[in-house]
Amino acid sequence: MIHLRLATPDDSEFLYNLKKQTLKEYITQIWGWNEKDQRDYYKKIFEPDKYHIIQQNGEDIGCLSIEEQHNKIMLNIIEITPEYQNKGIGSKLVKTGLQIAKENNFDIVIVVGHPKYYPRFGFKPAGNWGIKHPFDVPNDVFLALELKDNALKNCRGKVEYPKEYYEAM
Ligand SMILES: CC(C)(COP(=O)(O)OP(=O)(O)OC[C@H]1O[C@@H](n2cnc3c(N)ncnc32)[C@H](O)[C@@H]1OP(=O)(O)O)[C@@H](O)C(=O)NCCC(=O)NCCS
Repeated sequence: MIHLRLATPDDSEFLYNLKKQTLKEYITQIWGWNEKDQRDYYKKIFEPDKYHIIQQNGEDIGCLSIEEQHNKIMLNIIEITPEYQNKGIGSKLVKTGLQIAKENNFDIVIVVGHPKYYPRFGFKPAGNWGIKHPFDVPNDVFLALELKDNALKNCRGKVEYPKEYYEAM
């Protein structure tokens, strides 16, 4: 059974290693991976209460981090440990999350993620609506989803992230 629990400071090492296991390959391709810089950056932005640990039968198998801003939700992170990938867990969480977001009247969901994964849930490149990411990320990984018809029709400009993201860069 899948269960979410709020992370604590003790989860710091698990979460850093999870990031390294799941995202190092992608980060290396885009920005390169320097272990010391990655550790320093992580230390600076790590706030346990922004993460949920995904558990299966009591075992920690991944994490999820979302940010709510007015009418929009930013799916900041979803990472599943490699041995539990491709078992439908990620899809279940994304679909359930989108359903809850809809029920709670959110309009938009934004994600920086794999261009071949998120379109299966209806995400499209955010650039289609003229929305820009504040950092230098490839266009095809910055994606958006309208939870209400035409929610993005009149949106333009850059997405704003919490200030810690800018300070850590
Ligand atoms: C992306 C991720 C969260 C998906 O969770 P999951 O539980 O493995 O995914 P599911 O089992 O629900 O879905 C599996 C499907 O997604 C595809 N998939 C999994 N990871 C993918 C990725 N990074 N890119 C593209 N497709 C991916 C699989 O090929 C599989 O496709 P199929 O249904 O056509 O066979 C997980 O694989 C992961 O942690 N990856 C590394 C971290 C990452 O890329 N996170 C997303 C950006 S924050």
